[in-house]
Amino acid sequence: MKTNTIITLENELRLTLIRADEVPEPGTFLSAGELAKLASLKIEKRRRDWLGGRYAAKTLLKESLALTTQLSAIEISYDSFGRPVWTDRLISITHSGPFCAAACGPARTKFLGIDIEKAEPRAAAWYKDYFHKSELPSHDMEAATRLWTQKEALLKALGLGLKADPLDIKLSGDKPEFSRTALSRYKELGSPAFTLNTLTPGPGYYLSAACENSGTGASEQ
Ligand SMILES: CC(C)(COP(=O)(O)OP(=O)(O)OC[C@H]1O[C@@H](n2cnc3c(N)ncnc32)[C@H](O)[C@@H]1OP(=O)(O)O)[C@@H](O)C(=O)NCCC(=O)NCCS
Repeated sequence: MKTNTIITLENELRLTLIRADEVPEPGTFLSAGELAKLASLKIEKRRRDWLGGRYAAKTLLKESLALTTQLSAIEISYDSFGRPVWTDRLISITHSGPFCAAACGPARTKFLGIDIEKAEPRAAAWYKDYFHKSELPSHDMEAATRLWTQKEALLKALGLGLKADPLDIKLSGDKPEFSRTALSRYKELGSPAFTLNTLTPGPGYYLSAACENSGTGASEQ
């Protein structure tokens, strides 16, 4: 997958992937408030990830929406569930290894989440904590990482992240099944129909996107 380019997926979902080493000087795209926030981030990885996420999101919004404002004037905030937003438009941000990605959908989208992860060997406990037996019968690292990104994309679309148990989502059948905290939040959001897509942005990396189906309104998936 090419970096620094916007791709369009189903449901008018726009997505951009960048590499941390493609991010320009912070002063060229951050506001004064964001520069202060950057200065408060002490851990180098967190600084790099946060910067990459801002740059990816700002360039995505500017180009997708043909904004004439400068990048520094596009400030990302968070909704009441902790999901990143710009004005009232839901966006999603993820980072892993050298990659940062951002996504946005059409103006009315209320269900959107992306997640990128690298396939790596994991302890048996990780498989047990994340997956139902019916989702992943064996400890297959590639299949598990793909599924993990799908679950995290959904947990972000629900505005829960890992505040919810990953086992609240089951991806073994035709359609994702929600239970407990995930189901309750899904209903709170109006049970929107949605689509899950998974891409491979680089060797060993998986990137999943969950996005409300355009033009469907609230209906059970
Ligand atoms: C959301 C979460 C699963 C992401 O974890 P991750 O896979 O390690 O990180 P990613 O790089 O893929 O995603 C990070 C991005 O998720 C987004 N995010 C954070 N909370 C979110 C939420 N509740 N809903 C949707 N997106 C969220 C943010 O945009 C964040 O990037 P930013 O901080 O640069 O803006 C994790 O941060 C989480 O569970 N947060 C909720 C629990 C919490 O608040 N924990 C406090 C930890 S100290």
